[in-house]
Amino acid sequence: MIISIIVAISKNQVIGKNNQLIWHLPKDMKFFMDTTMDTVVIMGRKNYESIPKKYRPLNNRKNVIITRNKSYNAEGCTVVNSIDESLKVLNNIENKEVFVIGGGEIYKKFLEKGLIDRMYITHIDEYFDGDTFFPDVNYESWKSSDILYHSKD
Ligand SMILES: NC(=O)c1ccc[n+]([C@@H]2O[C@H](COP(=O)([O-])OP(=O)(O)OC[C@H]3O[C@@H](n4cnc5c(N)ncnc54)[C@H](OP(=O)(O)O)[C@@H]3O)[C@@H](O)[C@H]2O)c1
Repeated sequence: MIISIIVAISKNQVIGKNNQLIWHLPKDMKFFMDTTMDTVVIMGRKNYESIPKKYRPLNNRKNVIITRNKSYNAEGCTVVNSIDESLKVLNNIENKEVFVIGGGEIYKKFLEKGLIDRMYITHIDEYFDGDTFFPDVNYESWKSSDILYHSKD
């Protein structure tokens, strides 16, 4: 099993503000949807609640939500109370690649625990004012495989 992060990051590492995405990038959203289709997506409770109601749970994906709230319930989702518990859920799944889809706290915890094998990073070539950041990563210890360039969306 491969555990991957998928994220879009501004030049100053901002990923969100007021529990929302700051940008509207249709091509990147399509990339996210296509890449994670038919997989397991793991997310923090705040990220889950940031998804517009009509789009959640994300369709054709097993949605795993991490929260410390033991009575949290989200229809059609698997709710777990720790990172370790989310891994136990994955042990029963045969998918080859699972995706950690944020937000900031959850990216940081998976990276700190050394659980991430691969990252799909959209680098947005702008600075944004935000309150949620992607953690610092020592990219020198990562191998860059595919780099795609896009015109402004
Ligand atoms: N740019 C991107 O690609 C991207 C992707 C995803 C999200 N985002 C943005 O990121 C922001 C949300 O990120 P965030 O950092 O505020 O929140 P988050 O990581 O989505 O969720 C944080 C919540 O996860 C739960 N949690 C965290 N660590 C835990 C642990 N060890 N055990 C159990 N539960 C744990 C807690 O839930 P409880 O409080 O319920 O206990 C915590 O409040 C939004 O602005 C969103 O739009 C951006």
